[in-house]
Amino acid sequence: MRDASNRSLTVAARWRVTAQMSTELVWLNGEITALSDAKIAVEDRGFLFADGVYEVVRLYGGKPFALGLHLDRLQKSCDGLMLKMPMQREPLVREIRSLIDRSGVRDGMLYLQLTRGVASRNHVFPIDVPPTLLFFARALPAIVPPDRQAGIKLHTVRDVRWRMCWIKSIGLAANVLAKNEALSHGADEAAFVDEHDVVSECTSSNLFLVSHGKLITHPVGPRVLPGITRHVVIECARALSIDVIERPIALAEAKAADEIFITGTTRQLAWVGGWDGATVASGRLGPVTMKLHDAFESRVARELGASS
Ligand code: PDD
Repeated sequence: MRDASNRSLTVAARWRVTAQMSTELVWLNGEITALSDAKIAVEDRGFLFADGVYEVVRLYGGKPFALGLHLDRLQKSCDGLMLKMPMQREPLVREIRSLIDRSGVRDGMLYLQLTRGVASRNHVFPIDVPPTLLFFARALPAIVPPDRQAGIKLHTVRDVRWRMCWIKSIGLAANVLAKNEALSHGADEAAFVDEHDVVSECTSSNLFLVSHGKLITHPVGPRVLPGITRHVVIECARALSIDVIERPIALAEAKAADEIFITGTTRQLAWVGGWDGATVASGRLGPVTMKLHDAFESRVARELGASS
């Protein structure tokens, strides 16, 4: 019964996505076209080698949040893969803002991807090949505050990703496998653990614990993406005089925390109430998580209000 309704929901959701796509616009190498008409060459190195990087930026009321931080991280990802941005920042920001306006998206995201471009298949970097740059805006449901959301469930998955997770690489097969494994266990998100049972982050989100009033999260670097939401949450915590500790976290310690939440551009903060089939953090939204959500919302309002 549950399966049947899930299936029909999936079909409805797919239909919605298709309908939406037909009106979406994409900026591709300087040209704006309907997303459904845009073409990428078969020998684009993004397609053949996952030789590229990406960013996802949250849009609130048609304005990109923390765009500067996202473009800083994009530059670091480019440096990590020895990729060259084809545009200076100022004209890029202008083009992004104009595409968002033309798309008419209010609550949503901007997806941006850069690859090493099109060249005859060869592991060796091609010379003088222009990169492929694209971005498009997509509508998403508005953020629902944590006190109006059910807690999410995590499922532990062994981390088999490469050790350069600070690069926001489009090579996401390990994340995709882990996320689908989590879903097949009735969970919402997978939490990665290493061979020593240290828990680092999730497939598309960072992980935070609250223990004895302190905020704890794994350091960014080889195993953890420097999440923009993570960065802003840490700034909000410090402004609220909450101690922030960045250190590796044992899985057992994480599951015993007073509060657990994950962060990411598309969902902001989501509280965790279950992990590997058991209740964690008393199965309730905690006060520190809620306080940080409120502080995050104020920060968004302040920044985007000021830029209007
Ligand atoms: N993912 N860790 C991983 C592995 C991620 O892929 C993401 C984001 C994050 C959170 O980063 P941020 O706060 O900057 O969104 C952490 C994006 C949203 C995605 O792949 O869709």
